[in-house]
Amino acid sequence: MSDLNIIVESFEKKFSNIKSKEELQNLKSEFFGKNGLISSEFKKMNTLNPEDRKTFAKSLNDIKNQITHQIEKRFKDFENQTINEKLKSEKVDVTLPTKITHNGKIHPVSQVIDEISSIFSEIGFSVAEGPDVESEYNNFTALNTPENHPARDMHDTFYLDKNKKTLLRTHTSPVQIRTMSNGKPPFKIIVPGRTYRCDSDQTHAPMFHQLEGLHIDKNITMGHLKGCLNYFIREFFEVKKIKMRFRPSHFPFTEPSAEVDIGYKVENDKIVIGEGDKWLEILGCGMVHPNVLKNTNVDPSKFQGFAFGMGIDRLAMLKYGINDLRAFFETDYRWLNHFGFDPLDIPTNYRGLSR
Ligand code: PHE
Repeated sequence: MSDLNIIVESFEKKFSNIKSKEELQNLKSEFFGKNGLISSEFKKMNTLNPEDRKTFAKSLNDIKNQITHQIEKRFKDFENQTINEKLKSEKVDVTLPTKITHNGKIHPVSQVIDEISSIFSEIGFSVAEGPDVESEYNNFTALNTPENHPARDMHDTFYLDKNKKTLLRTHTSPVQIRTMSNGKPPFKIIVPGRTYRCDSDQTHAPMFHQLEGLHIDKNITMGHLKGCLNYFIREFFEVKKIKMRFRPSHFPFTEPSAEVDIGYKVENDKIVIGEGDKWLEILGCGMVHPNVLKNTNVDPSKFQGFAFGMGIDRLAMLKYGINDLRAFFETDYRWLNHFGFDPLDIPTNYRGLSR
């Protein structure tokens, strides 16, 4: 057997026993290293006559290529094997249930916003938003509340500049303006969000939350407003019947305007919503004033509708029996642990809002 055949045979034998990348690397050096078996054969070439050299060189090159190819292929296999093992060990089973490792809670205000959004989405409202820092125009002027209008003083506004051109919005109503001036009717939105007034006691905080509602279309009437609010209150407080009354009121941006009270009674120191002969004021509402529609380029001879605004914190306090508003914003973990909600219980109408 020629030297070359012996080399090939020895390679095949060793190659078939290779078990790791390191062993393969050693084998490669054994054949191709400086004094490797193949390299040494190349050195022999100088000693041959030109004729023999030609045939020898050809065979040697063939062998070299064949062995190199085998080694490289095996290196690739080892690499793929490592990747596959890694993929296997790092696989995440997304069907496994979540393991709760900490007890974070959802704040009652966030919970109530989720509940409200779910209730209104059932009847076709979508959620709109606007910034906390507003222009004086959107917050007042466009809402039919010109300068020197007494309603401006009633809002205890936080102004952000000397000229009183920017402010922290005192209600969510400016989002009515933003929505209507940037779109085309019909509009059917709710707006949950932060609002600010310079006021603080057991039932007032300088930052609080409001929910705005706006429904503008061709034939929307006060009847729709009543039906909508009645549905909302029943769903929200999870009661079948609700006593409600609409009291005439005044807002510059609605005409006619009303305040809505719901009936309640106190039983064993607990408030029972929906029945009884006591009244609780919960929101302001009315038919959107034609001037507001004009200011947002909506034609009041073609479109009309209602708007309402209510305090979200008040609703949360009533529903969950919390009696001091200030605790909402004190970030006391013990309080949150007591009044907070499970993050995985997403409120929906059909599965139950707060159970
Ligand atoms: N923006 C009013 C407030 O903050 C509430 C309201 C909204 C009244 C929409 C009527 C219509 O008091």
